[in-house]
Amino acid sequence: MLSSTQIRQGFIDFFKEHAHEFIPSSRVVPEDDPTLLFINAGMNQFKNIFLGNVTPQSTRAVNSQKCIRVSGKHNDLEEVGRDTYHHTFFEMLGNWSFGDYFKAEAIEWAWKLFTEVWGIDQNALWATVFGGDTADGVPADTEAEQLWTQMTSIPAQRVLRFGRKDNFWEMGETGPCGPCSEIHMDLGKERCDKKDNPRHICQVNGECGRFIELWNLVFIQYNRDESGMLHDLPARHVDTGAGLERIVSVLQNKSSNYDTDLFMPIMDHLSQLTGKTYTSTLGNDTDNAFRVIADHLRALSFSIADGALPGNEGRGYVLRRILRRATRFGLLLDQHEPFIHKLVPTLVHVMGDAFPELPERAAHVANVIEAEEASFGKTLDRGIEIFEADVKHVQQVGQDVVPGDKAFKLYDTYGFPLDLTQLMASERGLTVDTAGFDELMAQQKKQSQEGSKKLTFQADSLSDQLPDTDDGAKYVQLAIEAKILGYVRGDDYVTEGTLPAGESIGVVLDRTCAYAESGGQVGDTGYFSSGNDAFLVEDTLKITGAVVHQGRTASQAFSVGQTVTLSIDGLRRSDLTRNHT
Ligand code: SER
Repeated sequence: MLSSTQIRQGFIDFFKEHAHEFIPSSRVVPEDDPTLLFINAGMNQFKNIFLGNVTPQSTRAVNSQKCIRVSGKHNDLEEVGRDTYHHTFFEMLGNWSFGDYFKAEAIEWAWKLFTEVWGIDQNALWATVFGGDTADGVPADTEAEQLWTQMTSIPAQRVLRFGRKDNFWEMGETGPCGPCSEIHMDLGKERCDKKDNPRHICQVNGECGRFIELWNLVFIQYNRDESGMLHDLPARHVDTGAGLERIVSVLQNKSSNYDTDLFMPIMDHLSQLTGKTYTSTLGNDTDNAFRVIADHLRALSFSIADGALPGNEGRGYVLRRILRRATRFGLLLDQHEPFIHKLVPTLVHVMGDAFPELPERAAHVANVIEAEEASFGKTLDRGIEIFEADVKHVQQVGQDVVPGDKAFKLYDTYGFPLDLTQLMASERGLTVDTAGFDELMAQQKKQSQEGSKKLTFQADSLSDQLPDTDDGAKYVQLAIEAKILGYVRGDDYVTEGTLPAGESIGVVLDRTCAYAESGGQVGDTGYFSSGNDAFLVEDTLKITGAVVHQGRTASQAFSVGQTVTLSIDGLRRSDLTRNHT
């Protein structure tokens, strides 16, 4: 049986033999694309080549791209755990033509790799092509339709047409896009997981476990602009994407991606930690929890290794939600203390060879996850009690909707992401008033903008007490060893004792490499650590000559006088500098 490592490498080698250059995966945190929170497809790093803004170093490429689909147009978060094949993090194998070959070669090679090299049963394979869209003025892809029967042995009746939803690929609301042609596999009737639904039709794109999409061949030829119009690109390109996890499950003859060698070591470790057994069953709380935790561990670890940090906004908040979702599922495995971070070494063992950034930053990844788990754990149990009381009240008054203000209080005071509350509500047959929640959220945003000004003002009144910080390193390094001189808590500057846990304070160090908010550029974020403990820096402010690192720690592990290592989020800084410039 081929291992996942051999399968990944086999794909790369096949296309190298067809003159493709191997390009390493880009980071999951987009470097230069304000339209995306996370890399959601192999093509993101090539977007500027497709748009004609950049000339590629080679016209054919092959890669295995780390992807995260948790926000925006492609969001699979809610599906994870319930079935055998959805993930927030996955690897996308792809071959690329930048203005070089087009549909014929893409189809021929995909078929050859699947059926000849990997020996997938060709009688189980189906192809789909774009059936056209009148609103966009794009005709049916009869060319691809014919190529399937000319270039491969697939019979014409197994080549189906689908519309824009299934066979026109776009990375977001705007950007390079085009019709696509997919290869699906029929895994057999017994794999349908919707047999109980009388309206379900078991067919390609029928959304059950029987027919799975294995490879998407996208023929990129348009750019969609902000008004929704399509424009021809200067050249035509090929962007293909095959989810490694699914291919591995097929080639390893497993009924679930989670049963492959990409996940089983994590499942085994989780069993060992929790004393529970993973039985690879659907619709079972314990197994769902195993799948969610293993999946979320991967998304968290790769994004933190690539420079993201949990936080209150944007990308950071998405990570925080993922972590909290995993923590919440941990309760189903009786985990009431931080435990997710303990799985990081196993993930490194499974994927470290293919992605060296993971072993390099493993300690940082585990520290950040542990600090987040600890800070959420404290409020989780209390939040659940409050939620139970809310549910009781809703049921007593004969309702089936948890009011928006209750969900908001859980979010605001106990850090429960809305989807967590929705999940807990749905387990009791209830829904949540999300419109009410959104309204309160908008109000709070407004207030917090006003509130943050007040905080700076209060801190200003401390300016006489604070020492000057040596911030000479701020332009030259992203990490530094420094001593904790004291911390700002409310209106006080405290210069002795342990740093309080679980609340926002402002730490003053003797020296720093963090850039403090000034001249319109916002302050750095990052963390400082000592051993396994971390203090997450959420903002950096300057009060006269003192640089104040505002943030929080989950553990009472830091004291005034201690030496720590401060690391700042370099990627975010370079984005800020660029935008500011
Ligand atoms: N961009 C396409 C996808 O993400 C193919 O790589 O499915």
